[in-house]
Amino acid sequence: MTLKGRDLVTTQDWSHEELLAALDLAVKMKGDRYGYTNVLKDRTFFMFFYNPSVRTRQSFECAATELGGHAQFLEPKSMRLKTATTAGETIEDAARVMSRYACGLGIRILEDKVSAYGEGEELIREYAQWAEIPVVSMAHDKFHPCQGLADIMGWIEWLTPGGGFDPAAVKGKKLLVTWGHGALARSLCSIQEAMLIGSRFGMDVTVAAPEGYDLDGEIIKWTHENCKANGATLATTNDVEAGYKGAHVVYSRNWMSPRAYIDGEFQKQQEIEKALKHTDWICDAPKMALTEDAIFTHPMPIDRGHEVTDDVASGERSCIYDVAENRLHAQKAVMALTMGEVKPE
Ligand code: CP
Repeated sequence: MTLKGRDLVTTQDWSHEELLAALDLAVKMKGDRYGYTNVLKDRTFFMFFYNPSVRTRQSFECAATELGGHAQFLEPKSMRLKTATTAGETIEDAARVMSRYACGLGIRILEDKVSAYGEGEELIREYAQWAEIPVVSMAHDKFHPCQGLADIMGWIEWLTPGGGFDPAAVKGKKLLVTWGHGALARSLCSIQEAMLIGSRFGMDVTVAAPEGYDLDGEIIKWTHENCKANGATLATTNDVEAGYKGAHVVYSRNWMSPRAYIDGEFQKQQEIEKALKHTDWICDAPKMALTEDAIFTHPMPIDRGHEVTDDVASGERSCIYDVAENRLHAQKAVMALTMGEVKPE
């Protein structure tokens, strides 16, 4: 098996064996943080951000440095790209030229930088089509594969008895993905990636949300297929409490409604006003008490007091900082395997 040259647009595109290889290397890199400093020596990774970031930019930049290379920050205003309304360079030309300079290209494009759900995915796939270097999603409107890898890595770490790393430890465990009210009108990417990767590892997935917050039907279908292939189950509910019963991992996050775009414009304020009415949709201690001593997970940034209470987010069963740290290790592994000469074991 080789991952050299592979894109990472969603973990769903990689086989289970390939995901395990990435996680195995990420765990090794976590245990030997500065032991891989020649993997991308003197190489440059381009990070192209349409949207802001704390974790993604910082962890990719650290990852490139710790692999011996460099990460260069790019944003649309620093380029002259063609858009629906302005003349400029095509994606084909930009991607082919970037391939002559860098070892890899990361792209982030979220809900407010597209005129319809799925456009961000189309843009990344178009870069991947033309680029001769690996293209990695750094979060787009549909998926967040690096977050998904960091999530599953953290859940395995927390749920492996005795503190080791056994991917089988999450099999048969219940992942509750629950909508949280909030003032951020968030994209579906992290949630959908978590459902996909959780079900690939045999987790039972429950999605809880108020009526009117359905996720992408295709991703629900893929999650269902993953569950079926891995002896797991998928359930959905509109009940704010029911999903907590028996949960081992609780993932509470706001996401936008399917009606978020009108005439090609993302209706952020309208989405926020609608979401803030559902004040009972918050992850709190009484709801966590219904679980099987579940861990609380979130990709961050957290909308504290809306998606989750402070005592849960900062409590003893919160894995948020471990998951955030794992972004670094997971991305180093992905970069080493796809852009360097490191072979999966
Ligand atoms: N989880 C995540 O992608 O965080 P940032 O938006 O800060 O990069």
